[in-house]
Amino acid sequence: MASNRKLLILPGDGIGPEVMVTVRKVIDWMDKRRAVSFDVEEDLVGGSAIDAHGIPVTDKTVDTAMNSDAVLLGAVGGPKWDELPFDQKPERGLLRLRKDLGLYANLRPALCFDALVEASSLKPEIIAGLDIMILRELTGGVYFGEPRGIEDLPNGERRGINTQVYTTSEIRRVAAVGFDLARKRNNRLCSVEKANVMESGVLWRQEVTKLHAEEFSDVELSHMYADNCAMQLVRAPKQFDVIVTDNLFGDMLSDAAAMLTGSLGMLPSASLGDVDETGRRKSLYEPVHGSAPDIAGQGKANPLATLLSYAMSLRYTFDLPDDADLIEKAVNNVLAKGLRTPDIMASGGTAVSTEQMTEALIRELDEMAA
Ligand code: NAD
Ligand code: IPM
Ligand code: MN
Repeated sequence: MASNRKLLILPGDGIGPEVMVTVRKVIDWMDKRRAVSFDVEEDLVGGSAIDAHGIPVTDKTVDTAMNSDAVLLGAVGGPKWDELPFDQKPERGLLRLRKDLGLYANLRPALCFDALVEASSLKPEIIAGLDIMILRELTGGVYFGEPRGIEDLPNGERRGINTQVYTTSEIRRVAAVGFDLARKRNNRLCSVEKANVMESGVLWRQEVTKLHAEEFSDVELSHMYADNCAMQLVRAPKQFDVIVTDNLFGDMLSDAAAMLTGSLGMLPSASLGDVDETGRRKSLYEPVHGSAPDIAGQGKANPLATLLSYAMSLRYTFDLPDDADLIEKAVNNVLAKGLRTPDIMASGGTAVSTEQMTEALIRELDEMAA
């Protein structure tokens, strides 16, 4: 049956394909039990694309992504491809997708499920009830700035160069997403940079302040240096509502935030572009974690970050909030019943494999729908 739900699945490498099995089973379940169908296409990205085509993402795949309503990606990278020249590495495939699709706003919600309060390395009272949103700028900054490269110097040394660069419009558009998100949550936005040492940080602060005065003065705005933010995230994370920050700081702060939720295996993300003339918004959903080569192929991967990323696609792209709620509730329930992949295992929990976690989720969905 034709649908306006074109979903491109890019499992990628390492545990990517393992956690994507879980999503495929949930999609099948939704098709059968909720009559919600997707046109699912699957393709290669990262190391798997290098093995098949010699490059980390083909033009055809980028084209398919452009013409899909949403892309769901597992993870890319691994030791097998680490020695490749820089522009041929698996990670370049993901970076190209983000750039070509114009996905400048990366939403990384860090939410601590009650059942996982004990799984975090922080004290329960610090993280119980945690619900913060890190908004990471995703198509600019040092990840894409020119000049870049490694050059030979006349004295025989080599020099590695990257450039941190942001323009007014790049800062304003992501800050606007941050203010909008804050309005739908607790109305507080904390803008994070290092204006004390970086000109790009000075500009960032000035532009966010200006936009706030012009269009979002009802939102409570604060500013914080990125190093302090890293410290505050582990000291008292609940002080934050929405954090907006650049590409590199956002990458690091969101991995740190992941441990507040119990594991990197729990953190989903949504990468969004601008709304186009037809009202559509390009989007890519992916867990915050990587391909986890240390546990790949062992049935140990936690599939919940990827499943929760899929749930985010139901909310932000497919306008199926009830189905998103259902999946999040199923996750909550299996955790409440004590089921734990090794990364979130705590005393009293029942250790399960990726596959057993998936079966439990489907059983839970069956029970909820009964
Ligand atoms: P990683 O996120 O893959 O793993 C870090 C640690 O967290 C590992 O110990 C891993 O076992 C654990 N972990 C991660 N996800 C897990 C899950 N779902 N369940 C249980 N444990 C999990 O980071 P890394 O080891 O620094 O990087 C490995 C490769 O992944 C590199 O090639 C890197 O470039 C790539 N990477 C890709 C993405 C992405 O595709 N979005 C993100 C981060 C890293
Ligand atoms: C992430 C990853 C990526 C990044 C890599 C794999 C390119 O760490 O999505 O957090 O640095 O953005
Ligand atoms: Mn990262």
